[in-house]
Amino acid sequence: MTAYIGTPTSRVDGREKVTGAAKYAGEYKTTGLAYGSVVEATVPRGRIARIDTSAALRVEGVLDVLTPENRPRMADTPAAYKDDVAPDGSPFRPLYDDRIMFSGQPIALVLAENWEIARFATSLVRIEYQTEAHVTDLQVQRDRAFVIEKPEKPRGNAENAYATAEVRHAAEYYIPIEHHNPMELFASTVIWDGGGKLTVYDKTQGVQNVQRYLCGVFGTEPDDIRVMSPFVGGAFGAGLRPQYQAVLAVLAARALERSVRLVLTRQQMYALGYRPATIERLSLGAKADGTLDAITHEAIAATSQYEEFARNDTAWSGLLYKCANTTFVHKLARLDLPTACDMRAPGAATGVYALECAMDELAVALGLDPLELRLRCYSDRDQNQDIPYTSKQLRECYRRGAQAFGWDRRSAQPRSKRDGGELVGWGMATGIWEALQMETAARIVLTANGHAEVACATCDIGTGTYTIMAQLTADMLGLPLDNVTVKLGDSTLPLAPVEGGSWTAASVAHAIARTCDEVRNELLRLATTMPDSPLAAATPDDVTLVDGKIVSKKATSRAVPIADVMRHGACDRIERESRAEFPPDGAHARNTHSAIFAEVKVDEQLGVIRATRVVNAVAAGRILNTKTAHSQILGSAVWGIGMALHEETLVDHNFGRVMNPNIAEYHVPVNADVHDIDVIFVDEPDEIVNPLGIKGVGEIGMVGTAAAIANAVYHATGKRVRDLPITLDKLQR
Ligand code: MOS
Repeated sequence: MTAYIGTPTSRVDGREKVTGAAKYAGEYKTTGLAYGSVVEATVPRGRIARIDTSAALRVEGVLDVLTPENRPRMADTPAAYKDDVAPDGSPFRPLYDDRIMFSGQPIALVLAENWEIARFATSLVRIEYQTEAHVTDLQVQRDRAFVIEKPEKPRGNAENAYATAEVRHAAEYYIPIEHHNPMELFASTVIWDGGGKLTVYDKTQGVQNVQRYLCGVFGTEPDDIRVMSPFVGGAFGAGLRPQYQAVLAVLAARALERSVRLVLTRQQMYALGYRPATIERLSLGAKADGTLDAITHEAIAATSQYEEFARNDTAWSGLLYKCANTTFVHKLARLDLPTACDMRAPGAATGVYALECAMDELAVALGLDPLELRLRCYSDRDQNQDIPYTSKQLRECYRRGAQAFGWDRRSAQPRSKRDGGELVGWGMATGIWEALQMETAARIVLTANGHAEVACATCDIGTGTYTIMAQLTADMLGLPLDNVTVKLGDSTLPLAPVEGGSWTAASVAHAIARTCDEVRNELLRLATTMPDSPLAAATPDDVTLVDGKIVSKKATSRAVPIADVMRHGACDRIERESRAEFPPDGAHARNTHSAIFAEVKVDEQLGVIRATRVVNAVAAGRILNTKTAHSQILGSAVWGIGMALHEETLVDHNFGRVMNPNIAEYHVPVNADVHDIDVIFVDEPDEIVNPLGIKGVGEIGMVGTAAAIANAVYHATGKRVRDLPITLDKLQR
């Protein structure tokens, strides 16, 4: 049945995207559109003492200025602002009251006939503040961090084991705040459909999450708000929770009773979520032969004053390697910043970075090759829960990755290889992520002309969801790819969670598979009633759909064209909707793995670092589309380069304000920073993780990549820089 699954099928939405036909949230047009522009707080903590909007209101074309004082009614309990993926705490309520909790907080919304007028008028809004003392520096607040409960239990006695270990390594690693910086700005266009009904084109990773959230905030009936997000120009986790522009745009539409567009500026997006600054402390103890005896992993991550955002940083350290004694501590420090949020491989990107750098340092202390150390600690079982994996081809990742990279030609000695004026270093690391799956539904409409439409409320944040949905439906209904239309990113479509966590491919695939089964069963039911039907005795398990026909698996000559079946049944469409659920199987761990090998070249005089080669060998179950999956790993390797060498959100702690809120001064890798990246998918058949053996690839490429590069920088220079990003000034220190 697989003509498309597993192949490098090009994106079915590629043409729309490259021709500009694909519309994004800020691009929808309608008559009578009003434009919003946000006024942000310039202090990190305190109260609004006075807002003077009179000068702004006098500007011709300004329609209104909404503030906490005059805004229309919205829910007043914090609980009403909880979305599907909100952390513990009391969610931020935009324009709710006079309290200021972070610099960049929206405190007024100017509405005007066009965007230029709105933006100009924001400059005329005068704000007086009553400021309060603030803290935005994690290092200052670390001693006041509080412990949060995590499910992972310690085992053995890590303190004793560390004290008596033959070889020890302990160090602290630091990851600064990082921002997602998707190309598409956060934006909402709210279409006033009349009678209070709204269609909200929103940049989001979860239309149904935003729809429920907006209904909660505004107390509307579910039918009154429809949320659409058919195309998303990158999100990386920033769009998992509803962002404040959606609330403000709906608030404005209700106030003006007309359609409203609100697009945030790049600068304003630095007051949305971010990867929290995190301090990671690792202590590793080992026997001289490289057997791990003790792992202690303590993380201190930043959160806001009003919510407790926390992800799993530490448990990977107990999970990944064989080790009898482990302890984990996870702490949060409150800062006067917006709440952090998920960002590609949240927790693992930071925690495994530290673990994998610490393993490299331990290998140096042991005098062992870093890859050999990983192999000596290799485990076929999840060490935290002491259960087997559904599948784990990490050993094969190490082998294939090392071979492609030429790892066996590495000399152990740092600073031992040069290329002209550059020092050459090779490093490696392990990556691990979860293979998650979430309850998801799909609807399929098969029409007598041999066309199928498949629909699900999931989003496609650029990962290739449109394409895999088309591939799966085409294969399972035996149709050419071009005969399948995909609908997604619409809250009225069948149930889907937010697109995140690398769970969408597996979740949507099984929803489609179940729905296709039902379509096929209906076709068979009709086929068996045909006169002299060659399938008269066939049961659902006996037949498959191939090349527009329903075919007996036992004898392919027994086949009936789908068109004939439908004509016979006087049926011009078959419509089915079905839901895939994934009951937990406590008996197996579900993870993806990777081995990353990196080469850097470091200018000896200037300290300039180039990541010249990255090989990322990934084991992630069945790969549905080798082209889009390759792009996911390629993209995350670029992210790894950025995390290791470039990315850092800088806060001026005197003002509690981001200093580099733009992509000129917040450095992301550009083409000149990205050289050879080799992506390898290792075969990983898996009949346990789910019936189709799918694990997901959106995040695994991110985990471990920064560590491999950091370890390569050490190997090149003999200098260990533990706080990211590794910039030339740190090498010269
Ligand atoms: Mo991802 S950080 O779950 O969008």
